[in-house]
Amino acid sequence: MSNVIVASSVLTADFGRLSAEAAAVHAAGAGWLHLDIMDGVFVPNISFGPDTVRAMRAATTAVLDVHLMIHRPDEYLIQFAEAGADRISVHTELGPHVQRTLSTIRALGKKAGLALNPSTPESVITYLLDDIDLVLIMTVNPGFGGQKFIPAMLEKVRRVKAMIGGRPIEIEVDGGVTTANAGSIIEAGATVLVAGSAVFKGGASAYAKNIADLKGSTRLP
Ligand code: DX5
Ligand code: ZN
Repeated sequence: MSNVIVASSVLTADFGRLSAEAAAVHAAGAGWLHLDIMDGVFVPNISFGPDTVRAMRAATTAVLDVHLMIHRPDEYLIQFAEAGADRISVHTELGPHVQRTLSTIRALGKKAGLALNPSTPESVITYLLDDIDLVLIMTVNPGFGGQKFIPAMLEKVRRVKAMIGGRPIEIEVDGGVTTANAGSIIEAGATVLVAGSAVFKGGASAYAKNIADLKGSTRLP
C-alpha cells in the first residue's frame, strides 16, 4: 500500500446528501476532500461556492482541498479561507500575477497550490517553487467529472517531480484517475490522487474498497 493520499472530489457525489457523502468518504479513507469551484466562465460548468465549503467544514475533519476554476480568484480568496478551506489552488492560466495570488493564500494561513491545464507546460513552476505547497496537474480539461485521463500527462508528472527535487511540495493529479491507471500515476511521482467517479461508484458500501484499491494500485505490466 502506497502512502498516497486520496482526495475525493465531491463533484460526482449525491448533492442532495453532500454532508453525509463527505463524512462517508472521509471515514472510508479519503484524507482530503477535493472541492471543485467552477464559475461557468473559466470552465463550461457551474458547481458551488464558499457556503458549500463551509457546510463541508462542518461535516468533516478531512483536509478541505479547494480547487478554484474561477476568474478573478483574488477577489474570493478571503471568502474561501474563512469558509474553512485548508488548501487553495489557483490556475496559472488565469493571469500574469499568479505569484501574488499564491502569496495571498499563504498570508491567509492556507497551503497554496498551482493548477496547470493539460496544455500548460510544467516550466511555469520554475520560478514559483518557493511559493507553492502543491502542484495540481490536470489530467483532463477541467469542467466535469467522469472524463478520460490524458496519457501524455504522465510525462508531465515525472518532469514536475524532477523539478521539485527534495522540496516539500505535493504533486496532485486530477481527472480520470482509476484503479487501472493509479499505479502508473503514483510511480510517475504523484503524492495525491484526486478521484471522483472512481470513489463514488457503487454507492456508500463500496467507498472504502474503492479508496483502498486506488491507494494499493501498482503499475500494470
Ligand atoms: C474536473 C475536476 C475534477 C473532477 C475529477 O474539472 O477538477 O476534480 O471532479 O473527477 P473524476 O475523478 O471523475 O475524473
Ligand atoms: Zn479538481
